[in-house]
Amino acid sequence: MDIQAIRKDFPVLKEWVYLDNAFVGLMPKQVRDGYNSYVDQWYRFDTTGDRTILQEWLAKARKVRKELAKFVHVSPEELAYTTCTGSGLNIAINGTEWGQGENTVFPEWEHSPLDTHTTRRYGVEPRVWKPRDGIFQLSDLEKLVDDKTRIVQISEVSYVNGFKADLKAVSEIAHNHGAKVLVDSTQVVGALDVDWKGDNVDYVSFAPYKYLMGPAGLAFLYVKKEHIGELTPDRIGWKNQIYEGDNPEDDVDLETAEKFEYGTLHFQGHYAMEKSLEYLYRLGIKNVEKRNLELVSYLFDKLTESGKTIWTPEPKSNVVSYFQQGAREIATKLKAMKIKVTGREAHGDHMRVSVHFYNTEADIDKLLANA
Ligand SMILES: Cc1ncc(COP(=O)(O)O)c(C=O)c1O
Repeated sequence: MDIQAIRKDFPVLKEWVYLDNAFVGLMPKQVRDGYNSYVDQWYRFDTTGDRTILQEWLAKARKVRKELAKFVHVSPEELAYTTCTGSGLNIAINGTEWGQGENTVFPEWEHSPLDTHTTRRYGVEPRVWKPRDGIFQLSDLEKLVDDKTRIVQISEVSYVNGFKADLKAVSEIAHNHGAKVLVDSTQVVGALDVDWKGDNVDYVSFAPYKYLMGPAGLAFLYVKKEHIGELTPDRIGWKNQIYEGDNPEDDVDLETAEKFEYGTLHFQGHYAMEKSLEYLYRLGIKNVEKRNLELVSYLFDKLTESGKTIWTPEPKSNVVSYFQQGAREIATKLKAMKIKVTGREAHGDHMRVSVHFYNTEADIDKLLANA
């Protein structure tokens, strides 16, 4: 991977040391061109043959769905377009037939915790999985899950301290009690390779504006094929209409996750995604993962050398946190120097550093020299 050549695709890197990809990723020129191609097409009303502009957009959505499915190793029929991670999580939660006395289990730091108006309406008990020394222990999960647990929720990588979940083990515990596993992979896709089939998880929601380098306002829900039929769409519109009168568009196949899409999609986002996927395919996700883990190992070593207390259990993900008094003020000071990381008071004063393939060891050195 020629990092110096790659960095030229991200002009902001000339000015910024950017180590905050867990917040928002950077956009390469190619993705900006993707956005612009959508605007230009609409502006010129540039359609092929007898296609309408809507058919052009829907065709692009189909193409990108296929490419994304290949990227995350699932089938296109198992992926639905949504608007944000929370949207996908809610589709899975609201589409579940809940019963009184059931429960959900989720980690204390979950970004969008599984305690919702729907689950409360049904009297579902939220059970919180607490970490010990930054680790969500499987032995603790085993004590929380029982035969009344319907869904175990977990982030594949924690946005707080970068803890990487053993999804396969979580699935085994949940499935032993008949519960489903609902994953938030927003901090992972684009940074590390994923294996949701191997991990045997049931639903995965993720957004692309971090490690997939854009867009915002478009996101995805993976529903394992076997569950598509049993999950009821919680919203309806022209795209998944069930009313049997005139339907303005083609019928949606109820055997596919497309049945969860109800209206106009974030079409511009598909044009951007097409380019970000093209970019990542060209680099190879395994190479991106290797690069990110090398950078994180380097960061771990440097933090240890400088006597910092690292909160992240192991250098296994793209996100690293360390305890730091006055983290928020330090992050503000760094931003003024054009060094971008996150500093938070929540869950204990900590700095969060999140790398992507375009970072260098020199970025890390510059951060630590000033933090
Ligand atoms: C783990 C995780 N999930 C989801 C999100 C974003 O949620 P949404 O896409 O619903 O806005 C973030 C943003 O920081 C996140 O860290």
